Amino acid sequence: MKASNVVALGLLWGVLAIAKQEHGIDPQDFVRVDGLRLKDAKGLHYITGLNYWSCMNLAANASQGGNYSRLVTELDQMAAKGVNHLRIMASSEGAPTPQPFRMNPPLMDAPGLYNEEVFQGLDRCLDEMSKRGMRATMTLNNEWQWSGGFAQYINWATNQTIPYPPSWNMTKAPQRAVPRTGWGEYSTSDDGAASYSEFESFANQFYTNNQTETWFKEHIKTVTARRNTVSGRIYSEDPTIMTWQLANEPQSIDSITNKETLYPWVSRISSYIRSLAPKQLISVGLESKQGEEVFKSVHNFSTVDYATSHCWVQNWGIYDMFDPSEQNLQNAQTFAKDFVNQTSGWARDVGKPIFLEEFGMARDNWENKDKEYAYLSSANTTHKDSYFEVRTIIGAVVDDFKKGGAYVGTCPWAYGGVWRPETQTMNEFDMVWAGDPPHESPGWYYVYDGDEAMQVVSRQQQDVGSWVKGKRARGIRDSLGNNVIGLSCSYI
Ligand SMILES: *[C@@H]1O[C@H](CO)[C@@H](O)[C@H](O)[C@H]1NC(C)=O
Ligand SMILES: *[C@@H]1O[C@H](CO)[C@@H](O)[C@H](O)[C@H]1NC(C)=O
Ligand SMILES: *[C@@H]1O[C@H](CO)[C@@H](O)[C@H](O)[C@H]1NC(C)=O
Ligand SMILES: *[C@@H]1O[C@H](CO)[C@@H](O)[C@H](O)[C@H]1NC(C)=O
Ligand SMILES: *[C@@H]1O[C@H](CO)[C@@H](O)[C@H](O)[C@H]1NC(C)=O
Ligand SMILES: *[C@@H]1O[C@H](CO)[C@@H](O)[C@H](O)[C@H]1NC(C)=O
Ligand SMILES: *[C@@H]1O[C@H](CO)[C@@H](O)[C@H](O)[C@H]1NC(C)=O
Ligand SMILES: *[C@@H]1O[C@H](CO)[C@@H](O)[C@H](O)[C@H]1NC(C)=O
Repeated sequence: MKASNVVALGLLWGVLAIAKQEHGIDPQDFVRVDGLRLKDAKGLHYITGLNYWSCMNLAANASQGGNYSRLVTELDQMAAKGVNHLRIMASSEGAPTPQPFRMNPPLMDAPGLYNEEVFQGLDRCLDEMSKRGMRATMTLNNEWQWSGGFAQYINWATNQTIPYPPSWNMTKAPQRAVPRTGWGEYSTSDDGAASYSEFESFANQFYTNNQTETWFKEHIKTVTARRNTVSGRIYSEDPTIMTWQLANEPQSIDSITNKETLYPWVSRISSYIRSLAPKQLISVGLESKQGEEVFKSVHNFSTVDYATSHCWVQNWGIYDMFDPSEQNLQNAQTFAKDFVNQTSGWARDVGKPIFLEEFGMARDNWENKDKEYAYLSSANTTHKDSYFEVRTIIGAVVDDFKKGGAYVGTCPWAYGGVWRPETQTMNEFDMVWAGDPPHESPGWYYVYDGDEAMQVVSRQQQDVGSWVKGKRARGIRDSLGNNVIGLSCSYI
């Protein structure tokens, strides 16, 4: 090709790209870290986020199990509530033989072998997000089985059978009269399920296996270098992608393996991402439940831009979804507020912002106790609403932000949108795409489109927005000394 043709093509491409970008996030407007704050071109950037991990699959061609009308309906619903960030998967791994309990079809069928239609789903997802002023956390791997993750990489490398821990089996009894509509039950040792510690030991071979690390780096290279087939943007040059996240909840089993395997892995992989995508941010995806030392060690690398936290009161044994008592709720509220306060303090010590990127609570499922399914959507949400709102977890983050603490936003698990367990039907890939990932009971944790929790999310955005506007009107600096000149896209 002649040079002049290249220039002409380049110009044409530029014109097309500009036409597209009129409705998208400005191509120069990368979110950056400034002390304990995130900033974008408009000033302070507070994150009103939601987990929406299945975005690439919903956005894929219908022949791959996608559902474009559901995707745009749900993105519009979230945008209408002021949501400006989605945490999504930018990875999922398959196997030569069909595997249970995970996203299907996967992005990667085998090392380096991609399902282009699912990849185009990720392209479309990012383009639709950009049009609505939403930025992404792109999760590149997974400690857990629900996307394939570390365990699948190890299976690829060693051919060892994956010892799945107890996981939700949609076809196990009890079954509804209409085939493929559920309910199902967790697998047990009678079904061949292993323990969680066996599973973790298996999956965590990933931190020290040279072959799987090479494959993982190749994935990172492929996804950061990809040109979006819808928007034309290179992923590493697209500010719609705020953050590359090493993995969902990477962790180790004890203090020795933390030091010897987890921390060096965080250092190697985050440096590698930085070398390929220097304009975007990097987070680890740590739950931050393992205490101060792990928190500070994992987040203190120069190639990790901000800290993350996940707060799970029921999974951690603090809350019981069958107990209607006020005391049960109060235990959860107290725990969550302390957790936010404590992790904020640790993040301040490390000198970086922190993002609460997972938390959730079940509906009032004691109301479902004697019904056919414990997770029916008809149950009330009194505890969940109190847990989310201003006096508890979201309120604690907003207060911390206003006081100049390290928190910069929230991201509940997960947007369930128009989906309901009562009307679910597994598609040809055995998926229902609930807010719960495929190894957990559908209907446990999510926010539905009509839920009060979405109003709480929305009020948070309005609250922070008007707080910033008020400060700006009076020319006040925030408590960290930042000149409060504005707040991201949807706030002004
Ligand atoms: C979706 O898949 C169908 C069947 O494979 C194909 O005919 C169609 O062109 C695809 N659509 C897009 C937008 O890729
Ligand atoms: C797509 O989602 C809509 C809900 O928005 C649902 O009514 C429809 O059945 C879904 N289509 C497929 C093919 O699953
Ligand atoms: C795993 O199995 C595949 C296919 O049977 C084979 O090609 C490969 O060499 C095996 N790998 C190991 C590490 O045993
Ligand atoms: C799920 O349950 C069905 C029905 O009991 C059983 O045949 C199948 O093996 C189970 N799958 C797994 C992966 O445990
Ligand atoms: C993995 O690679 C490193 C660096 O290249 C090397 O030092 C180490 O011995 C390798 N480990 C194995 C198990 O091959
Ligand atoms: C938050 O933690 C700090 C220590 O980092 C402590 O001094 C303070 O009392 C805590 N506040 C609340 C409300 O628990
Ligand atoms: C972080 O690492 C630096 C050295 O790079 C060290 O001086 C500092 O004490 C560490 N901070 C924490 C909180 O561990
Ligand atoms: C939800 O709460 C209302 C008011 O307390 C009550 O009347 C209703 O029965 C509850 N719903 C269920 C499914 O129990």
